[in-house]
Amino acid sequence: MISRGVDANFWQGKTVFLTGHTGFKGSWLSLWLSSLGAKVCGYALAPSTTPNLFTVLNLQDSLKYSQIADIRDLDALQKAVIKAQPDIVIHMAAQPLVRYSYTHPVETYATNVMGTLNLLESLRSIDSARATVVVTTDKCYENNERLAGYQEHEPMGGHDPYSNSKGCAELVTAAYRRSFFSADQYLEHHNAIASARAGNVIGGGDWSEDRLIPDAIKAFEANKPLIIRNTLATRPWQHVLEPLSGYLVLAQALYEEGTAFAQGWNFGPKDSDARPVQEVVELLISAWGSPASWVHDGSEHPHEAKSLKLNITKARENLGWVPKWTLETAIEKIAHWQKAYQNKRDMKSISLNQIREYSQS
Ligand SMILES: NC(=O)c1ccc[n+]([C@@H]2O[C@H](COP(=O)([O-])OP(=O)(O)OC[C@H]3O[C@@H](n4cnc5c(N)ncnc54)[C@H](O)[C@@H]3O)[C@@H](O)[C@H]2O)c1
Repeated sequence: MISRGVDANFWQGKTVFLTGHTGFKGSWLSLWLSSLGAKVCGYALAPSTTPNLFTVLNLQDSLKYSQIADIRDLDALQKAVIKAQPDIVIHMAAQPLVRYSYTHPVETYATNVMGTLNLLESLRSIDSARATVVVTTDKCYENNERLAGYQEHEPMGGHDPYSNSKGCAELVTAAYRRSFFSADQYLEHHNAIASARAGNVIGGGDWSEDRLIPDAIKAFEANKPLIIRNTLATRPWQHVLEPLSGYLVLAQALYEEGTAFAQGWNFGPKDSDARPVQEVVELLISAWGSPASWVHDGSEHPHEAKSLKLNITKARENLGWVPKWTLETAIEKIAHWQKAYQNKRDMKSISLNQIREYSQS
């Protein structure tokens, strides 16, 4: 089996069109790509929380440019793609929250489905791109609450609007690939398009609403107990640098080897890191140190899957990508990052250091 890692030489000087660069994962990826010498052209809405990682890392200065615009606006997106003339496209902009999707289903579908369609349609206007990675999620699969991990060929589904919109984004991506970016037409379009399904991503610098780690840190900082809804729900937890490394390795393979890799890929953690919420919280409490606790909220909540795992055999065997950090390491890195933020340290250098540690591990 070949083993692939993020290749610094590959990224030097490449132009990357990155949607969602102002978000949690997008900010980490912008920092990583810029540190590798890539020219990042970002396209996203303004950061939606205060504080937010994009501002904390002062990323505005590291990018080639940051365009604040909407992926639901086909005309604006098409102009932006034409202006960027990217070598590589990574599409991460989305409405990514399950509970918000119950209260804002139309916005969720418009952003996640039509936004993805608009991006793919815009790519038909350029011939510079050699590799495109569309980021969806582990939740795109039809979840039948089984314990075994989902594999890439299994049906798309999704109970709630968020999960289902990402299943739809997968189907749109597959249809565009077959219709306009197929292997048969590769010599005309030269753009190999893949989709990437990651697990539940955790890391320093996430201030989103309704996510376990950000909610926990807010509670601990306020000396209040964390309120947990689904203590036993199992998720494939992984540090944010894990799926990002998967996207980068996949983009490298698409760029260098073309449509052989133009498929769906799971980038989850090792099976042993698909763990119940309660265990993750207890790990964070012991890494946090100062008084921290949790209580169970037994009231009624909208449906969320109880069990979710990704099978990563394909990425491991065919792409040579493997997860590096265990859940314990991920939690340690988060506690270190958040404490450093509390202590007003230089967060760009702390974050670059975590990227370096990850790359060398
Ligand atoms: N965080 C996770 O656990 C996780 C897990 C699996 C997949 N994902 C996927 O990874 C991607 C990034 O997630 P994140 O956690 O960084 O989310 P985030 O909410 O922090 O960032 C979302 C980004 O999308 C942008 N965006 C949202 N609506 C937009 C619109 N209409 N037009 C332009 N930009 C828009 C935001 O401005 C932001 O830059 C998403 O596609 C998400 O579905 C996240």
